[in-house]
Amino acid sequence: KRPAGAPDRSLARPVTKVGIVGAGLMASQLALLFVRRLEVPVVLTDLDQERVDKGVGYVHAEIDKLLAKGRINHDKANRHKALVSGAIDKAEVFGDADFVIEAVFEEMSVKKSVFADVEKVVSAECVLATNTSSLSITEMAADLEHPERVVGFHFFNPVAVMPLLEIVKGERTDDATLATAFGTGKALKKTTILVNDSPSFIVNRLLGRFMGEVGRIVDEGTPVPVADSAFAGVAPMPPFMLLSLVGPAIALHNNETLHGAFPDRFYVSPALERVVAARKTSYYGADGSIDPEVEALLETP
Ligand code: 3HC
Repeated sequence: KRPAGAPDRSLARPVTKVGIVGAGLMASQLALLFVRRLEVPVVLTDLDQERVDKGVGYVHAEIDKLLAKGRINHDKANRHKALVSGAIDKAEVFGDADFVIEAVFEEMSVKKSVFADVEKVVSAECVLATNTSSLSITEMAADLEHPERVVGFHFFNPVAVMPLLEIVKGERTDDATLATAFGTGKALKKTTILVNDSPSFIVNRLLGRFMGEVGRIVDEGTPVPVADSAFAGVAPMPPFMLLSLVGPAIALHNNETLHGAFPDRFYVSPALERVVAARKTSYYGADGSIDPEVEALLETP
């Protein structure tokens, strides 16, 4: 059955090569998913060779884990590994891509300049997808020569496990782009939903209320482990573990975007701001208990 709002699937264009801009946490998880599900060449790009190598290395290591678990055989593992590559220069590798997705830093000016660069080296039909979790697709596409090929393609962490994919239509996204996005989402075996181009779409808007309220509870003096344990049994993951999985900086950015759009409804936790300013990437230490440095940041008035 066609998902509500999805255009005629006959308009979908084939995807024979995928480009990924970024080789970080989300980007490398996306590379793994695309190579496993689409079985087409996937090329990751980033600013320097070290990041590129780390991204490709992650994909290879995850394929090795699947092999070790007996989920795939040697032939498939080797085939999938050979399909993933990395480069610094987009012009060298994106020329024949028909689907490029960006998963770089969550900042409008950065995303716009990435798409402007990519547009110079891809065909006019190549879909430009963004994994943004909160930013406007319409604005991201506004200065491009072909804004009609830009679409939101928002995955959730961990990408391999979370079933949902939010597909976001910008004001100028055309039906062929949308059909290609839905077709690709289906090939990736995700549950696709069409969402409005509004701040943080659906999932992160809901999550923003939830995480904002948990942040407020801790700001009011409840210790993180108590807030975490209060949710055992009602949520798949304690809230501060989820926040650490997503990344405190991303979570803060989401809440700031939502607070900017709906100031009466969204809370930006000063403690979370301090955690991000201290460049903490998790609330927990290696032993799974709360990091004492984070604890101190939560207590600082
Ligand atoms: N990467 C890949 N696979 C992972 C993984 C990871 N980081 N973490 C867990 N998995 C896999 C495991 O390998 C296992 O797979 P298997 O059954 O095939 O072996 C499966 O997930 C279940 O893992 P576990 O049994 O170890 O653990 P749980 O049953 O506790 O499930 C979870 C783990 C699926 C991550 C669960 O805790 C969960 O659903 N958490 C909530 C995650 C969530 O809400 N994500 C959305 C965040 S919002 C977001 O991403 C948007 C962004 O824009 C900010």
